[in-house]
Amino acid sequence: MAEFALPANSKMTGKTRVYKAPDGAKAVKTFKIYRWSPDDDENPRLDTYEVDMGSCGPMVLDALIKIKNEMDPTLTFRRSCREGICGSCSMNIDGTNTLACTQPIEELSGDVQITPLPHMEVIKDLVPDFKHFYAQYASIEPWLKTKTPAPAGKERIQSEDQREELNGLYECILCACCSTACPSYWWNQEKFLGPAILLQAYRWLADSRDEMTGERLDALEDPFRLYRCHTIMNCSNVCPKGLNPAKAIAEIKKMVVERQV
Ligand code: SF4
Ligand code: SF4
Ligand code: FES
Repeated sequence: MAEFALPANSKMTGKTRVYKAPDGAKAVKTFKIYRWSPDDDENPRLDTYEVDMGSCGPMVLDALIKIKNEMDPTLTFRRSCREGICGSCSMNIDGTNTLACTQPIEELSGDVQITPLPHMEVIKDLVPDFKHFYAQYASIEPWLKTKTPAPAGKERIQSEDQREELNGLYECILCACCSTACPSYWWNQEKFLGPAILLQAYRWLADSRDEMTGERLDALEDPFRLYRCHTIMNCSNVCPKGLNPAKAIAEIKKMVVERQV
């Protein structure tokens, strides 16, 4: 296990560690954070961090950064943009998958429990392994595919209405909050593409410039890849960008049926 010095006012309590707020802190918020490391023999555990809210920003990510900078440099999590754009900081906060950078602390009552996205392999602490998720994304060939040449010297034009069809789809930041909230994905993620990847697949099916609709539907029409969705709706309830993956999945199913009649 990597060696690190605990702050002087912290103590070990069994397998968990408690990091106390500094003396004089007025508003203290307690965060219980999942810890797991391949180098640690006290795995997994919830460590407790008492954060002085008087010197902390408003979002859960602000608290995590403060904890890492001032209390425990070993705490590991992903983040980049800090404004809900990159999708890096997805995690489970008080039982809900969401983005730490857009989750206000003041909306969370009592102690706040933070764990990694459910049903993913953990690399360390709050960092899940996205290898399989990204491989599934690559499998839907997420780029414009055409058969005819573009008009000489011109772009492939869309009307305003055609462009409108991509609203609610292109905004997806691939945070995986939806897929890791989906029971079907929990149990079948080797074969079921899950809501995030299916929403992305529909983004290309809905693009008026794409000319591979038939091939894309062929690749999706499978008892597992598409049809493991049972419209439970967890995905749409949890999306931090307010998107509706369940609706996108329903649209794909509709396209499959319509091409058969
Ligand atoms: S609607 Fe489908 S994809 Fe979304 S959570 Fe339910 S089963 Fe999963
Ligand atoms: S649909 Fe929403 S929850 Fe799912 S990956 Fe995209 S942004 Fe994240
Ligand atoms: S840090 Fe980019 S979405 Fe949270």
